[in-house]
Amino acid sequence: YPLILFCLILVSRLPQHKLVQLFYDLDIKSFFNFQVAAASGHAVVLVDQSEEILKKSTKGIEESLKRVTKKKFADKPEAGTEFIEKTLKNLTTSTDAVAVVHSTDLVIEAIVENQEIKSELFKTLDKFAPEHTIFASNTSSLHITQLANSTTRQDRFGGLHFFNPVPMMKLVEVIKTPMTSQKTFESLVDFSKAVGKSPVSCKDTPGFIVNRLLVPYMLEAVRLFERGDASKEDIDVAMKLGAGYPMGPFELLDYVGLDTSKYIIDGWHSLEPNNPLFAPSPLLNKLVEEKKLGAGQ
Ligand code: 3HC
Repeated sequence: YPLILFCLILVSRLPQHKLVQLFYDLDIKSFFNFQVAAASGHAVVLVDQSEEILKKSTKGIEESLKRVTKKKFADKPEAGTEFIEKTLKNLTTSTDAVAVVHSTDLVIEAIVENQEIKSELFKTLDKFAPEHTIFASNTSSLHITQLANSTTRQDRFGGLHFFNPVPMMKLVEVIKTPMTSQKTFESLVDFSKAVGKSPVSCKDTPGFIVNRLLVPYMLEAVRLFERGDASKEDIDVAMKLGAGYPMGPFELLDYVGLDTSKYIIDGWHSLEPNNPLFAPSPLLNKLVEEKKLGAGQ
């Protein structure tokens, strides 16, 4: 069996074997990843910079769990309560990544979308994590290869990209760099399935599959609005009713976060300045500067 399945057995038998989710910036997607992993029976440690953020995250998880449970156990409220209790038992929190990483099988990083900060964190963790531990990044847009190069475990390094809202969205993109071993890749695929998701694989290319298509589409909607061709309300209605999308592009921008979308496009623009699909949007930049970041902020 691939490594992670072996480790999952250890997780259930030896509680000290844990999965660490690093979570330094409050972002709905991150703590939902953590929730989904705990709900599927993994021992999870959520790591963030302060107790205050951890408290806020735990509260968010509890609320989201209640929403999931209301649907999943509509006819059996007692089973729902049991599910919530069991899930919360699998969760612990910490502000000290180095102290917890020594007993983990998988690290999922979901910190701020900044190459240097992420690399610095991985470099530190690499020194303290056990040999077998797999590192994965939940980055939306950065190169996994570059992150892997900040460690000495390039073969045990890959991408695990989840989607908002994580409890609802079935997809996980599993990213294999040229250095990721087949065993690591299979372990990440198996982990994705074990948390109830449908994995797809993609090479380490900007935006992987979903964001590569979705982000230019959302930016094109902003440009359509900026030219005065249609109102943002009509653009949203058009894509919902004309293309069957559950949210229009503006609704989705709000949901994903205007700042997140801007960081993604800025990163790609710096890699390929002549690619018109990656052109930054002055309107998006202005809104982010004014701290108008979207509905979830
Ligand atoms: N936690 C738990 N349960 C949730 C939830 C959450 N955050 N959000 C929705 N649900 C569940 C609840 O059971 C909810 O029922 P409730 O309101 O009674 O609690 C139920 O879903 C239905 O939710 P809603 O009535 O609010 O709405 P919808 O039926 O329209 O579904 C949606 C909501 C799933 C978000 C749907 O609108 C959708 O699929 N939107 C598109 C999302 C999308 O495109 N995501 C990808 C973003 S890109 C990304 O993440 C990549 C990143 O790198 C930028």
